[in-house]
Amino acid sequence: MLLNNTGKEKGQQTNNGSMLLREEILAIGSWLSSMGKQHFFETTAQRMASATNTLNLPYEMIGHGYNRIVYDLNNGYVLKIALSEIGMMANANEAYIHTNCREEVRKYLCPVSEFASGWIIMKKMDTNVRHAVIDYMKLIKLEMMFLKYGMIPIDLRIANVAFSEENEMVVIDYGLFTLDRKSPVLRWFI
Ligand SMILES: Nc1ncnc2c1ncn2[C@@H]1O[C@H](COP(=O)(O)OP(=O)(O)OP(=O)(O)O)[C@@H](O)[C@H]1O
Ligand SMILES: [Mg+2]
Repeated sequence: MLLNNTGKEKGQQTNNGSMLLREEILAIGSWLSSMGKQHFFETTAQRMASATNTLNLPYEMIGHGYNRIVYDLNNGYVLKIALSEIGMMANANEAYIHTNCREEVRKYLCPVSEFASGWIIMKKMDTNVRHAVIDYMKLIKLEMMFLKYGMIPIDLRIANVAFSEENEMVVIDYGLFTLDRKSPVLRWFI
């Protein structure tokens, strides 16, 4: 099978250089429009079941939180799709922060490579590590570093960090971090 650099089969239609195919973007659009009609009181498991059904993507689901479902694109990147309004905001917030933050902090944030309303593509990081005692110290140091540069690292915890190829601790979920007054998280909640 011939694959191009986005990992797609030759001849399959990609969307303006996106790693996703046109039909995958359309499937995400259908999920996002039905997501708005879902009930507020359903459980995350119920929401996940409706999402995976509607999305029907050919990728392995490698994780999820309360607000986003995460697929492995098999090319070194992951696709995170909103499961809720907070997930929509978190994706926008990560794209905003990654683009606008200072160089000194960017290296500790998982790189974002594509973003559109409701979904984001990020570099895949190694989450399968046994957390040593020293990692908790690294986590606190990381928290202090964000504070030093004026960011508020809301929800920074061990489940939201992973390791880069250089074995550096990086944040994979910074959807609730603040950068400045224009950060989507502040606009949404305040
Ligand atoms: N860049 C990544 N590389 C590898 N795995 C990832 C990446 N981003 C997310 N994951 C996996 O998906 C899980 C859920 O992602 P994430 O924490 O971003 O979702 P969330 O819904 O915003 O979480 P929360 O419940 O904290 O709001 C992570 O715990 C991790 O296992
Ligand atoms: Mg999380």
